[in-house]
Amino acid sequence: MTHILHPDPTKFEEIGKPITAEIFRFNPAVDEKPTMRTYVVPYRRRMSVFTLLREIYENMDPTLAFRNQQCGRGICGTCRFRIGVQGQSVKGCAVPLEPGAHVIIKPHDEKKVIRDLVVEL
Ligand code: FES
Repeated sequence: MTHILHPDPTKFEEIGKPITAEIFRFNPAVDEKPTMRTYVVPYRRRMSVFTLLREIYENMDPTLAFRNQQCGRGICGTCRFRIGVQGQSVKGCAVPLEPGAHVIIKPHDEKKVIRDLVVEL
């Protein structure tokens, strides 16, 4: 059995059109206001919003802040983000992504941002 955070590497190959992700970036200690940064990320089998963030952090931009020590199974709730134009509240590990998807990811509560997608609990 594999875990979403440690998938079987033989099932983790790039298999479809890349995902375009617009992600909220803000460091209150140095930034005047938030910005949205766009990443084009290779699609991997069984990719979720949460594993997309891990892919970006590990292979594209290690400055991206999000809570990376999570259950990955929809239990703990610490991966809660707002996604899409409407800002729907979701558990990132429970939202699968399709090849070629365009996703907008913002923190669960923009008034409580510590940095990027990390908010006060
Ligand atoms: S990582 Fe625990 S609910 Fe998503």
